[in-house]
Amino acid sequence: MDILSISGAAYLVAALLFILALAGLSKHETASQGWVYGVAGMVLALVTTLLQVADAGRVTPVIVLVAAVAVGAVIGLWRAKVVEMTGMPELIALLHSFVGLAAALTGWNGHLEAGSYSDGIHRTEVFVGVFIGAVTFTGSIVAFLKLSARMKSAPLMLPGKNVINVGALVIFMTLTVAYCITPALGLLIAVTALALALGWHLVASIGGGDMPVVVSMLNSYSGWAAASSGFLLQNDLLIVTGALVGSSGAYLSYVMCKAMNRSFISVIAGGLGIEAGPSSDQDYGEYREISAEDTAEVLLSASSVVITPGYGMAVAQAQYPVAELTRLLREKGVDVRFGIHPVAGRLPGHMNVLLAEAKVPYDIVLEMDEINDDLVDTDIVLVIGANDTVNPAAAEDPASPIAGMPVLRVWEAKNVVVFKRSMATGYAGVQNPLFFRENSQMLFGDAKTRIEEIVVALSRVPA
Ligand code: TAP
Repeated sequence: MDILSISGAAYLVAALLFILALAGLSKHETASQGWVYGVAGMVLALVTTLLQVADAGRVTPVIVLVAAVAVGAVIGLWRAKVVEMTGMPELIALLHSFVGLAAALTGWNGHLEAGSYSDGIHRTEVFVGVFIGAVTFTGSIVAFLKLSARMKSAPLMLPGKNVINVGALVIFMTLTVAYCITPALGLLIAVTALALALGWHLVASIGGGDMPVVVSMLNSYSGWAAASSGFLLQNDLLIVTGALVGSSGAYLSYVMCKAMNRSFISVIAGGLGIEAGPSSDQDYGEYREISAEDTAEVLLSASSVVITPGYGMAVAQAQYPVAELTRLLREKGVDVRFGIHPVAGRLPGHMNVLLAEAKVPYDIVLEMDEINDDLVDTDIVLVIGANDTVNPAAAEDPASPIAGMPVLRVWEAKNVVVFKRSMATGYAGVQNPLFFRENSQMLFGDAKTRIEEIVVALSRVPA
């Protein structure tokens, strides 16, 4: 059997392993199995590619390939080891930018290698590859900057932003036709510059509250960018893998849009149709403060407590004292449950992972839709480092940038205690009227320290 048949068969097996990986990763019971399939598929793909290059009898590409994989593996392992869980989305955004850059460079390479000897299909592949790759590259860089708070999360509202986006697409199509007729270098430079600017503008125009969808949308773009490189390099596995990532990312974005009551088209088109600006300079009145000791008193007189954690719980690493507080309250006969918003924290399932890590029983951790109707009969809600996910403006203020996003209706409870360090806004950059409601009190300080103080106060009270 020749190397081409062997590598064809190996690529097919790798593609099947990637499909099994996706299926496994879709449920947490089978996630680690899915991970094993994914790693096995990637190892097989790399070894097969290496054997293909070695079989061609060229030494330099083999050395370059091995060196690139080794350097990439070392950096990848190091980053994955040191990254905080709260930093995962920004790392993923950065990785997407590499895929985009690789696709754009592959397109450029396709142009430089084939020049004017290429046919129309090859020219289209070059142009589309460079376009998708460059959009993904700058879009992912902006997502990285926004997620790591190096750039404001509020949406960029350039006048006529929708015209800019649609105009860029029309120019891209015109340039593609021109390039198919004459593959001039100037046209390739023009489309690269256009796509870099468009990627930047698309993601900069999206507000912080929609960032989870943007991350999965860029994941999808990076898949299509990889698939376009696969066409250029005539590599079937890259086409299949790219299409798997592209379509699963697109489907995830669609599901997230539905869960957050967002228009899918609006988000993938860079906030198309969203014209409202942040309504943050409104005067909401006075807020009231409460101490940890007094919070412990209120908790002791409660019969039902709901805890709604958010990003701040992850920052403070407060999940262990939260678990201890839960245990103590339950021992004293208080009904304690958790309400988890689908985008609380910075990655899907973030709060569930933290609570599971601290051994909070699964059966008292409920999804937003499962707990929302019970909040009206709840004595006290503890909002621990959450902000956007409990913001009544989403439900009540049509001019708010997060209007329409489903939230935990904590303000319907009899009492609300909000744990945070200041009156600063949440990730979406929108002020939260909850803090000024009559039934709300602010418990300022690091969430972990404050919960530990409450635990100490409760421990002093005999069971
Ligand atoms: P946020 O709206 O981000 O608010 C978190 C709050 O935690 C902040 O207001 C902050 O206030 C407080 N905080 C930070 N450190 C703290 C500490 N050590 N102790 C006490 N409080 C602390 O959180 P959320 O309600 O979880 O909402 C998540 C947001 O992130 C949404 O807008 C969502 O769209 C976005 N997002 C989510 C994801 C996914 S997939 N989950 C991905 C990307 C973006 P102070 O600074 O005053 O303490």
